[in-house]
Amino acid sequence: MTNARERSEAFAATLGLSVPILLAPMAGACPPSLSIAVAKAGGMGACGVLLMPPPEIAAWVAEFRAAGGKALQLNLWTPDPPPTRDAAAERRVRDFLAQWGPQVPETAGDATPPDFAAQFDAMLAARPTAISSIMGLYPPDYVRRMKAAGVKWFATATNVGEAALAAAAGADAIIAQGAEAGGHRGAFDRDAAERTATGLFALVPAIVDAVSIPVIAAGGISDARGLAAALTLGASAAMVGTGFLRSPEAKLSPAWSNALALAQPEDTQLTRAFSGRSGRSLSTAYVRAASAPDAPPPAPYPVQRGLTAAMRRHATEENDIARMQAWAGQASRLAPARPAGEIVDALWRGAREILR
Ligand SMILES: Cc1cc2nc3c(=O)[nH]c(=O)nc-3n(C[C@H](O)[C@H](O)[C@H](O)COP(=O)(O)O)c2cc1C
Repeated sequence: MTNARERSEAFAATLGLSVPILLAPMAGACPPSLSIAVAKAGGMGACGVLLMPPPEIAAWVAEFRAAGGKALQLNLWTPDPPPTRDAAAERRVRDFLAQWGPQVPETAGDATPPDFAAQFDAMLAARPTAISSIMGLYPPDYVRRMKAAGVKWFATATNVGEAALAAAAGADAIIAQGAEAGGHRGAFDRDAAERTATGLFALVPAIVDAVSIPVIAAGGISDARGLAAALTLGASAAMVGTGFLRSPEAKLSPAWSNALALAQPEDTQLTRAFSGRSGRSLSTAYVRAASAPDAPPPAPYPVQRGLTAAMRRHATEENDIARMQAWAGQASRLAPARPAGEIVDALWRGAREILR
């Protein structure tokens, strides 16, 4: 068995990093400022481009590079098949949401995400260090194009079966996403996302034993203890999302940032109430009400995302945590309100001490 520190330092070097720490891609919560700060401290920047049309992707990367950023991961969900619509069920969700925000127009559920192929082209044209997939694998032709361009493919997996499929399809590394992780769960089978929710302590060694490519651990790593534990379990690097959200460079709404500092692990929960896909958020008043037995079941992704858009926008404008889409990992209380570069330094300095 290789030494955790040597293994992670060697992997970091292959990516042009001086520390084995990657910012997690967080669609809607990853301004260039955050990636610039993480990259300057020796880690890898990241952008979740899910909601960004191609010109926005190019502009984001240009801003990152103009500030001297180098190592970068761009991330895009694999597309879902078109959702099955149910007008009566959607009306019940719209009526429910009207208690939490403005009236929801009948057409709100029709909103479609940007075109996957065009977004992928824009990611590839930007020549990042890596492109990461989530919610499934990329089609073989897309994988071939990444390889031809010298761009690494990091594939998110939430269980051993998904990791094996990704490795067989040519992934260069697996992002093992534990159930502790904030934001959407990357389960390939969206209906199984809650049933297969596996904690990182069991997931990392199981995936490490099943594949022969490096494993990047994600989920609930917000301090040096978590980083050292993930590397000890066999991961070659850690991906941190929530742990950076309270840094000034993340530019989070104050109510969300303050609530992260107070939340114990049990104050977060998996919910489909924001987008129709399962994700971990703070157990806010809206999330609790939407999970109650008498609440209407959320519409499928991305219909639910469209239906909740107005409520989410209002909540952010009014800095109202009760209705905000406040994603959070289970270790959110450990997220420090410090500059992101200092967070990277403290994570790696502390983990090195533990791993000595
Ligand atoms: C606000 C937020 C948005 C996220 N958006 C994405 C995304 O667009 N794509 C993705 O692959 N993962 C996304 N995630 C999941 C992260 O990439 C990562 O798995 C997670 O943050 C790790 O757990 P942690 O938050 O406990 O550190 C998101 C997470 C958060 C907190």
